[in-house]
Amino acid sequence: MQDPKRYTVTAALPYANGPVHIGHLAGCYLPADIYVRFLRQNQKDVKFICGTDEHGAAINIKAQKEGISPQEVVDRYHGIIDQAFKDFGIDFDIFSRTSKEVHHKTAQDFFLKLHEQGAFEEQTTEQYFDPEAQQFLADRFIVGQCPNCGFEEAYGDQCENCGSTLSANELINPKSRLSGSAPVKKETKHWFLPLNHLSGKIRNYIQAHKNWKPNVYGQCMSWLDSGDGLQARSMTRDLDWGIQVPLKDAEGKVLYVWFDAPIGYISATKELVGDDWTKYWQSDDTQLVHFIGKDNIVFHCIIFPALLMEHGGYHLPDAVPANEFLNLEGQKISTSRNWAVWLHEYLEDFPNQQDALRYALCANAPETKDNDFTWKDFQSRNNNELVAILGNFVNRVLVLMQKYYQGKIPAPDTLQAQDQEVLQNLTQAPNLIGEALGKFRFREAQTALMQLARAGNKYLAEEEPWKSVKTNPERTQTVMYVAAQVAAQLSQLMEPFLPHSAAKLRTYLNLPLLNWGQLEQQELLIPGHTVEKGALLFQKIEDAAIEAQREKLEASRKANAAAQYAPSKEPASFDDFTKMDLRVGEITQAQKVPKTSKLLKLEVNLGFEKRTIVSGISQFFNPDEIIGQKVVVLANLKPRKIKGIASEGMILMADDRSGNLHFATVAKEAEVGSTIS
Ligand code: MF3
Ligand code: ZN
Repeated sequence: MQDPKRYTVTAALPYANGPVHIGHLAGCYLPADIYVRFLRQNQKDVKFICGTDEHGAAINIKAQKEGISPQEVVDRYHGIIDQAFKDFGIDFDIFSRTSKEVHHKTAQDFFLKLHEQGAFEEQTTEQYFDPEAQQFLADRFIVGQCPNCGFEEAYGDQCENCGSTLSANELINPKSRLSGSAPVKKETKHWFLPLNHLSGKIRNYIQAHKNWKPNVYGQCMSWLDSGDGLQARSMTRDLDWGIQVPLKDAEGKVLYVWFDAPIGYISATKELVGDDWTKYWQSDDTQLVHFIGKDNIVFHCIIFPALLMEHGGYHLPDAVPANEFLNLEGQKISTSRNWAVWLHEYLEDFPNQQDALRYALCANAPETKDNDFTWKDFQSRNNNELVAILGNFVNRVLVLMQKYYQGKIPAPDTLQAQDQEVLQNLTQAPNLIGEALGKFRFREAQTALMQLARAGNKYLAEEEPWKSVKTNPERTQTVMYVAAQVAAQLSQLMEPFLPHSAAKLRTYLNLPLLNWGQLEQQELLIPGHTVEKGALLFQKIEDAAIEAQREKLEASRKANAAAQYAPSKEPASFDDFTKMDLRVGEITQAQKVPKTSKLLKLEVNLGFEKRTIVSGISQFFNPDEIIGQKVVVLANLKPRKIKGIASEGMILMADDRSGNLHFATVAKEAEVGSTIS
């Protein structure tokens, strides 16, 4: 492919309903920033676009919880998020807000154009309405019992217990989260994007991008290939917070947040470059790259491109390098359970150590699968790699350079094979790292960078200039000259990954930031050039600091645990109890239910017959490990369809206060089929 003329790089607009944590950084903003810094260093014309997503039910819900207005919520968190990104060197060209005038206008015009072109289907449907609050209820505003797993607090769009996707109509005993009252059904009109009719075009588009990361491509294809295929999706909502639907018969309705938010990228570009925005969005020599987390894949790969296609005139996204999720100390990061490392808190505890976190998060980025952040690993990455390898190497070079040559780079004598090898590595590194970055392989790229420092250390250790300085000054000059070139190259190649330390190092070396393309030239520091003494680039992190972080998490864990004993239930009669046919069963087969994160399909032997049971336990058990497990089965639960599979019973589980599931087991020797009473 020909080199694109320019790049439009976006990072998912974070909801302005809370601060950002390490999961956000690792999943989306850090890789995006590394990529953009690399492009800039290559003199590319690139615009790096982000801002806060300030609409949608997520904002209302936060406002309601805190007892403040949605406006106050978004104002507060826009500032906090903006500052956190600045502090970590996430260097957007613009960090805008979807509440801006230019965005409202852009999104409304976009909607009108689609409407005029007949792209929407109008449908009148019955929706839940809260008679007390006098409001239609968005999916997230309704809770009720999950029809699949019985969880009492399932939302109108999803059950967070079993992971199944729901519609509000399926909930048993729905309740409004606004007033707590039972909602009623009321007719309302909405504008649907008929994705079902567009699936041919979308499929062609996706299939033209087989080079996308497997997790992204795979998820798109599985949406396209899923049983019922793509479904029409409403682009409007009955809500009082958001962008008004610009039609006469749409009073009290706003644009669906996933309609307006991605258009926010376009509005922010307009705000940034004015009329030139079309170059960045409507020209086929532009490369459009969306960095996101995996929960955003369908919106960026299917819905947003469909909107752009229907509108016409737009260049479609070229790459959507979505990451998987980052866990924290083995558990899912959770805002409500305060199981997170918040960026602003990190900086209070580790001032000026942004690069240490950037480094650890990139080294552990969940590029191909979910990954775990642990404080121990963070400490060892910092102490054993940044401090002991990179920092140590640079420091040795600077100190010796002062000591032997008052900071003046010496002229080399004859280069020996080992010197040439080091210099050759230096000239190859920019390409190696550049290629990995071009393929969105950030971990690999950063590893190659560290490899260079490692090789530098090894070189010094083998050449021992501190010994040869007394016996062979010419040789020492050569070695120090070569080592200085390594330090110089590092100060350039570190820039995308560790911008704060890279800038410091360049100050010590009296070097400007150079074009990536120039880095292949061997001699970045010519003999006679003066370098400073400098200071340590990285600080060691002590055990006590790590312990303090772990204690913080431990406190969250305890607070959650204390809060979460399930409340006692209403008294039940003996009759109620005897209605239940409880049996000893044995699991004989187990497999994951495709496209779900929590469900296992089990075959359970009850002695007198075998049953298929779908159970929401996949997060806790490997299918292989539970074969042969004896369990308690509620055998006369009416069969239910779960993800198209008829589930004929339920397995009893112990649900602890941290939400971990354990089998309610029976003695090994109990015969399958035995009744339990
Ligand atoms: N606010 C969404 C989230 O946090 C992401 C929006 S991305 C955009 O999941 F494309 F819509 F802007
Ligand atoms: Zn459920």
